[in-house]
Amino acid sequence: MSSGYSVAVVGAGAVGVEMLRVLRERNFPLKHLRVLARSDRQMTVDGETYEVRATTPEAFEGVQLALFAGTEGEKGAAVTFGPDAVRRGAVVIDNGKDFRMDPEVPLVVPEVNGADVERHRGIIANPNCSTVQLVHALKPIYDLSRVERIVVSTYQSISGSGAPAVREFDQQLQAAARGDAMPPYEQIPAQLVQNVLAGCWTFLENGYQDEEWKMVCETHKILHDDAIRITPTTVRVPVVAGHAESVYLETERKVTADEARRALAAFPGICLMDEPAPTEKNPHARTYPTPLDAAGRSDTYVGRVREDPTAPRGLLLWVVADNLRKGAAQNAVQIAEEVVRRNCLLR
Ligand SMILES: NC(=O)c1ccc[n+]([C@@H]2O[C@H](COP(=O)([O-])OP(=O)(O)OC[C@H]3O[C@@H](n4cnc5c(N)ncnc54)[C@H](OP(=O)(O)O)[C@@H]3O)[C@@H](O)[C@H]2O)c1
Repeated sequence: MSSGYSVAVVGAGAVGVEMLRVLRERNFPLKHLRVLARSDRQMTVDGETYEVRATTPEAFEGVQLALFAGTEGEKGAAVTFGPDAVRRGAVVIDNGKDFRMDPEVPLVVPEVNGADVERHRGIIANPNCSTVQLVHALKPIYDLSRVERIVVSTYQSISGSGAPAVREFDQQLQAAARGDAMPPYEQIPAQLVQNVLAGCWTFLENGYQDEEWKMVCETHKILHDDAIRITPTTVRVPVVAGHAESVYLETERKVTADEARRALAAFPGICLMDEPAPTEKNPHARTYPTPLDAAGRSDTYVGRVREDPTAPRGLLLWVVADNLRKGAAQNAVQIAEEVVRRNCLLR
């Protein structure tokens, strides 16, 4: 670690651990790496041992890029330490919701609106996982014709709720296998084993969940288009890693399924997995992505591209990505790369 950048990763949970993996895999040029959380300890990730230190304002001294994957809210990591890290010269890239809708904070998916990092004032926000994969798959189609309307339903994995929720889901699985009663519901509001939950998030007065409303506001901000009519339904499914989304969209002019496939296949970071007819190699099945295909991988996968026979400008997509990767850690590291590439570090 002689040349490169001084980086801090704040949070050593589901996203923080994935950030350490992604920094390594993408050979991010590191001079120093600090891992910060709530308490001092050692942590081993893929055979590499990291010294985790309790987060303090002084821990950001000399740090150029601070990737936050801690808790949200008034007493959360980003609100408590983010502004101070900026004052000490770090560009903060935050995974939580605290700064996403702040007009002074760019909200970025690098393949979609990478240039927005140039107007940062110290903090850049990473969108919510369900938004990242949605806008990533939408952008190549939006570039063909403006998207007017989106109806999206999600099938979200439990790792989207963090490492403690994954542990609770594992306890639920073990209890179900033994035929025991479910353990107390702490991180997950009900039994998720052999179930799907359409009410896993906080409900707003308008009947939507905050996760749904995030998809609306964040999509508008990232695509710079507040006029898109979007209506989401977010659902938790008994899957550990990888979110799937069923997306219905209407464009201004008709975009055929073939046009959409070509644009998707040519777009950075999108992997088209869409064999609409059985093939010689795979005679019984059509090809489309599943959360297991996406788990641990970097791309956003798209399949089931088809026209809606009941609406002249309607298209349907099935979009899958690893929520901890493209939905969080990898997108954050890509933002860091974009900051470096566009020469907009604070020092
Ligand atoms: N999971 C996803 O798919 C996903 C996707 C997009 C965005 N996000 C966002 O990313 C953030 C992290 O999520 P996660 O799933 O990784 O959560 P997690 O597994 O619960 O981990 C949270 C980590 O943050 C640390 N932390 C909590 N409060 C802190 C504080 N005040 N100062 C310093 N560190 C603190 C915890 O430290 P200790 O280990 O010491 O307790 C823990 O390591 C959240 O804002 C979440 O909304 C998550």
